[in-house]
Amino acid sequence: MAFSLYTLGGLVLVVGYLIQQLANYIRVARFKKQHKCEPETQIPQPERIIGYKLYKTQMEASKNKNLLEAGRQRYIDNGNTWSGIMMGRKFINTIDPENVKTILATNFKDFGLGQRQESFGPLLGQGIFTTDGAQWEHSRALVRPNFTKAQVADLDTFESHIQRLISKLPRDGSTVDLQPLFFQLTLDSATEFLFGESVNSLTSQEGSEQEVFGRSFDLAQAQLGKRSRLGKLVHLFRDKEFDQACKTVHQFVDNIILKALERSQPKDAEKSIDGKGEKERYVFLTEMLKSTRDPKQLRDELLNILLAGRDTTASLLSNTFHVLARRPDIWAKLLAEVDQLHGEKPDYETLRNMKYLKYLMNESLRLYPVVPGNARFANKDTVLPRGGGLSRTSPIYISKGQVVAYSTYVMHRRPDIYGPDAAHFRPERWAPEEGLRPGWGYLPFNGGPRICVGQQFALTEASYTTVRLVQEFCGLESRDAREWVEQLSLTMACGNGVKVGLVPREK
Ligand code: HEM
Repeated sequence: MAFSLYTLGGLVLVVGYLIQQLANYIRVARFKKQHKCEPETQIPQPERIIGYKLYKTQMEASKNKNLLEAGRQRYIDNGNTWSGIMMGRKFINTIDPENVKTILATNFKDFGLGQRQESFGPLLGQGIFTTDGAQWEHSRALVRPNFTKAQVADLDTFESHIQRLISKLPRDGSTVDLQPLFFQLTLDSATEFLFGESVNSLTSQEGSEQEVFGRSFDLAQAQLGKRSRLGKLVHLFRDKEFDQACKTVHQFVDNIILKALERSQPKDAEKSIDGKGEKERYVFLTEMLKSTRDPKQLRDELLNILLAGRDTTASLLSNTFHVLARRPDIWAKLLAEVDQLHGEKPDYETLRNMKYLKYLMNESLRLYPVVPGNARFANKDTVLPRGGGLSRTSPIYISKGQVVAYSTYVMHRRPDIYGPDAAHFRPERWAPEEGLRPGWGYLPFNGGPRICVGQQFALTEASYTTVRLVQEFCGLESRDAREWVEQLSLTMACGNGVKVGLVPREK
């Protein structure tokens, strides 16, 4: 009797499960029909349950610094939108501008960042870069007003960091790797802009508080990519070095915030606390104090912006100088444009009017987008407009929880968007007379409501650095015969660094 009751109970569970599955199947089938969805292309895989082979291939490509090119080949083989299974998870991959626009703008609310908060939280807390929904909206409203032209255009403070950089460059033609110096430069300027105190890593002593902060931030940040690849398993791993690095970073920033809070009283909030000289220096933290005095919120937002803004700008400079050192034709045109300034340091308006420099930055971010790929997670059943059926133009179904990844790197190299010379570095393609209008096919700074808030800041800083280096050095040559290879962390820099020799101008 007991046996048959157990059997009956089990049967009820199984039937219940089957009914639920059937109901779900019918619901999804209706949804697909309603939206005219057709299946997307699936890449050939020996098995589609775990997808271990694809995982192994990806790991191998990553070790060989060939992940992006391997991905490009997969798009050539399978079209602009396809799916694959990796470690038990289905990924939709796309380089179709219509699909990317749908994820980032048209159906923005259907997608979120997934587990970014879990992976990045221990370092970054809850700020503009790590949150979704109402919390993100609040962060964005807090942060965005601090990126107006007036703040971005202040180049005087930045010049002092450029001077430190220049003092570290050999003038006797010996070889120097520019890449680590660019990373130090952007850490110094970002900390100055955000905290009002630069860590001056270009000149700081080893073991000093500032140097330890820089090192800890680098270490913690380097682990974030690994943590995001672990997905939900991240909670199972303990990494003492990472935990200690986060603690050091937090203590350093908390001290600065505490001092700023002490210096400014709530009643002074409308005034700047930083007025030392005639012209008040812009400090992000000071401005934030007008909206919040919560130390944790201040720390989180500052670190979110430091992370979003530091490596990206350094990577843009590194990739650009990697090309400049190998392309005397481009260097000569840049030199000619910079020489029209007759040695005057450029201001914001001057930089904006330097056409060739602008084309150069655009082209660098096209072929070497420093955020080369990204992903969003569907938070409800939804649809992408293209990629389904034999024609690959029908809508495709995206189920709740599904990952949609897009590769800016590959999209920016599509010959049907950029022409037959898409793989060639040619700044002139951005001249208006060429009529290039890639729309959502060009996305170095993302698009839609989460578009990069630091775009103008980054372009101003990278352009200014480039001009000032050309004003100081009239010759640049590569000291490394190897081709560009990727260096992927959260951003994309040069795998072999930027080893160059420089010829100083005669004074
Ligand atoms: C060449 C330099 C830069 C590039 C290519 C770049 C690119 C991007 C991209 C692609 C995103 C979207 C990330 C995502 O949603 O997953 C983003 C977001 C962001 N960027 Fe930038 N960025 C650069 C420099 C900067 C700088 C200098 C700052 C600040 C000083 C900054 C601040 C931010 C912030 C706060 C976000 C998050 C915006 C949000 O989610 O609402 N970025 N950036």
